[in-house]
Amino acid sequence: MRISETPEWQALTEHHREIGDRHLRDLFAEEPERGTDLVVTAGDLRLDYSKNRLTRETVRLLAALADAAGLRERTKAMFRGEHVNTTEDRAVLHVALRDPAPSGLVVDGRDVNTEAHEVLGRMASFAERVRSGEWTGHTGERIRAVVNIGIGGSDLGPAMAYQALRDYSERSITFRFVSNIDPTDLAEATRDLDPASTLFIVASKTFTTQETLTNAREARRWLLEGLGGDEAAVAKHFAAVSTNAEKVADFGIDTDNMFGFWDWVGGRYSFTSAIGLSLMVAIGPERYRELLDGFHAMDQHFRTAPWEENLPALLGLISVWYIDFFGTRTQAVLPYAQYLARFPAYLQQLCMESNGKSVRLDGSPVDVATGEIVWGEPGTNGQHAFYQLLHQGTVLCPADFIAFAQPNHDLDGMHDLFLSNFLAQPRALAFGRTAEEVAADGTAPDVVPHKVMPGNHPSSAIVAPKLTPSTLGQLVAAYEHRVFTQGVVWGINSFDQWGVELGKVMANELAPKLQSEGPPDYDSDSSTNALVRVLREGRGR
Ligand code: F6P
Repeated sequence: MRISETPEWQALTEHHREIGDRHLRDLFAEEPERGTDLVVTAGDLRLDYSKNRLTRETVRLLAALADAAGLRERTKAMFRGEHVNTTEDRAVLHVALRDPAPSGLVVDGRDVNTEAHEVLGRMASFAERVRSGEWTGHTGERIRAVVNIGIGGSDLGPAMAYQALRDYSERSITFRFVSNIDPTDLAEATRDLDPASTLFIVASKTFTTQETLTNAREARRWLLEGLGGDEAAVAKHFAAVSTNAEKVADFGIDTDNMFGFWDWVGGRYSFTSAIGLSLMVAIGPERYRELLDGFHAMDQHFRTAPWEENLPALLGLISVWYIDFFGTRTQAVLPYAQYLARFPAYLQQLCMESNGKSVRLDGSPVDVATGEIVWGEPGTNGQHAFYQLLHQGTVLCPADFIAFAQPNHDLDGMHDLFLSNFLAQPRALAFGRTAEEVAADGTAPDVVPHKVMPGNHPSSAIVAPKLTPSTLGQLVAAYEHRVFTQGVVWGINSFDQWGVELGKVMANELAPKLQSEGPPDYDSDSSTNALVRVLREGRGR
């Protein structure tokens, strides 16, 4: 049965008719303890969802919807290693990557725990050797710079987490992340580096991605040029992370320097696979284990907690409430932590590549709205850029505010000022300011409407004691399971990404038109043909 045809969906439609227009001011007036009642904790994370346009009854109905969608069974199936990624006929087992159990989960005839731990052990010894200086470059110099080359899931996780956990990183090594095939990315990343002390980690699940392989080839050229052309240098300056040993060997990277993972790890869920190698070099194996333990704690919470006390499930169900019943289309993620500057970008891939789908598991079209546009910037910067629209625009946009009680640095008590903004913005969004309140300030009557803050803009607040490897792991896992919850309710496959393929094929067809010295065939559409001509002329061709 389609989810929209279930009595649980119908009940929510009816419930939305009843409470959809209610103002957060009234909800708080009626239930003064909302701020402590509509709260769940999981590990170190505390989710306050009281400033959302819902009541306890909404949460009860959403939990019933989760049951109707089979969220419990689907969760068990995922954790058991069933092939829940049906279009690619694959298990979905990123949760096994952080499971401390050394063995026991056998999937498709292989013990995935054992395999995951074996790779983690190799990663740890490699990371230690690089960090200690035991691993040296071709000329005997120790490694001073690590450059991760990868894109999408092979970049965003380690790049985001390196920035988030910089405070815990080895400061004597420079870390860079190159993803874009725009040649400026690699050029800028390497311009001040010394080839003799630079290590490249080429991260690609498939090892066929145009951007990554092109950058890796250029990096090898840069290295060999800087080290006198001796091919033997590659073994000391290149490591690979991939599921595809054959392609790694074809590329010329010694498979002794390769760290594997498996097709049951989706690209955007691969952060805790060997894709995290650059991060492990940065923060060290012990901190990395704390990160994995944080993920695992949230995995266990998601697997076992009832929906009404389940932090990731609530995040997912509340977003379904907005997307499908209020018609919202975007979700803001606003970390009050500069270290989390890349977190919204990381979540964009996680959420939008997973749930940007319009057919159900059986191939029939969805009849409900699915994935939202996820975006955001750290506070307080965003306040001085786009919050105006959140406060007074015509768009309803739920926002997740994220903060940490303890600072990683507190210069002259700045952290309290910072946190006061984290408190003020959701409060202003929720409660606003009425015309009477504005007029009471002596504002001229014609200006009053411009200063009215309508309020009733929903938000959730996630607070943890401090940004640490563990709390970062908990946070990321919470959003992974939020995405899963949404996908199960909508009946879609959150683990494939066929939609990105067509553009890749077309780029490969169009590349020769730009590269050819002679006039190409102008056989695309008229817009693309004209653009090809302009770009060729711009390069003097
Ligand atoms: O183009 C999308 C995608 O396949 C992502 O899902 C993936 O994270 C990224 O490309 C990179 O792929 P790979 O790790 O195989 O290079």
